[in-house]
Amino acid sequence: MTKVWKIDLSASGGNADGLREAAESLREGKLVAFPTETVYGLGADAANTEAVSAIFAAKGRPSDNPLIVHIAERSQLAELTAPPDEAVSRLLDVFWPGPLTVVLPVLPGVLSPLVTAGLPTVGLRMPDHPVALQLIAASGCPVAAPSANRSGRPSPTHAAHVLEDLDGRIAGVVDGGPTGVGLESTVVEFGADGALHILRPGGIIAAQLRAALPDVTVLEPSADEHKQEPEAPRAPGMKYAHYAPRGAMVLVQGGAAEPVLARMQRELDEARSRGERTGVFTYREHAGRLRADHEVACGTLGDLDTVARGLYAALREFDEAGVSFIAAEACPEQGIGAAVMNRLRKAAGGRIVRI
Ligand code: TXA
Ligand code: MG
Repeated sequence: MTKVWKIDLSASGGNADGLREAAESLREGKLVAFPTETVYGLGADAANTEAVSAIFAAKGRPSDNPLIVHIAERSQLAELTAPPDEAVSRLLDVFWPGPLTVVLPVLPGVLSPLVTAGLPTVGLRMPDHPVALQLIAASGCPVAAPSANRSGRPSPTHAAHVLEDLDGRIAGVVDGGPTGVGLESTVVEFGADGALHILRPGGIIAAQLRAALPDVTVLEPSADEHKQEPEAPRAPGMKYAHYAPRGAMVLVQGGAAEPVLARMQRELDEARSRGERTGVFTYREHAGRLRADHEVACGTLGDLDTVARGLYAALREFDEAGVSFIAAEACPEQGIGAAVMNRLRKAAGGRIVRI
């Protein structure tokens, strides 16, 4: 049985007992899911190999995909990595706590080798969520936490999503309500070339990184991808099909809305005539425009933060509705839209129509 600790820090008392119990479970080597400002994480003591191996088992995650380690205070950094240089310090000053994971050299022997999947580096992050920070601080350990979904499923943005995927497989979930950003953290690493490489786009956008480090070249994945050897991606997790709804998705992208919507309708009609149960992923501006068995209008094109926030719940909604074919409308790749499109492309498994 998976325990649920409801935590509302705005309520008087805030369920301090629940947080204490959850932290105690982490210390005992158990798996505890918890909210962050991005998505729910599945936490374990990052120094405990048995606990970390239980994360991989519960998620069904390939063991060559390293985990992010979460800390609650800057002082914990010194236990895990060498003193950061000026540029790294600047990133941490500006973006921590927040949705930025920085890949840094790991000190030998301080973490379970499973956390880093044998790499000499570790992805470190300080989440900007009071529940996460209190839980990590109370546990007294660095907390390894991938997103709290079964491998290949959309990441969880509500405690109910965690239970959908992991009920009975983990000790407990700290339910702190819906997460904020809705997409995972941005993962960055300084390359030998001195440039800052965005390994995974996310909650912190490229323009923010450039503003914080005006003298540093910031490379986005699209500019980077073709230079990588496909068998050795720099963020190992990026090579797996991810964020997938159960139905097949086609992503339609174009300069103007009308031809995009027309193409989506054609795809939907063809799917329907094949006997598929159809779904349409669009935005408030285009709600009700297309014929399908199920529609999700996910946020508004006028504010892409709202799209990011609702994306993973939308993908799960198609599963619940039994949809077997989804036509998805692309959004502009500006700001957080770059991260949304990165996830939509993965959800579509590369089935992209450009018109
Ligand atoms: O927002 C988030 O980052 C969430 C919440 C729970 O904090 N966590 C999360 O973890 O998304 P996960 O394990 O699902 O994604 C970790 C990503 C993967 O793409 C992995 O390959 C990359 O970070 N990564 C981790 N350690 C790395 C390392 N040492 N070098 C390169 N990439 C690394
Ligand atoms: Mg994940």
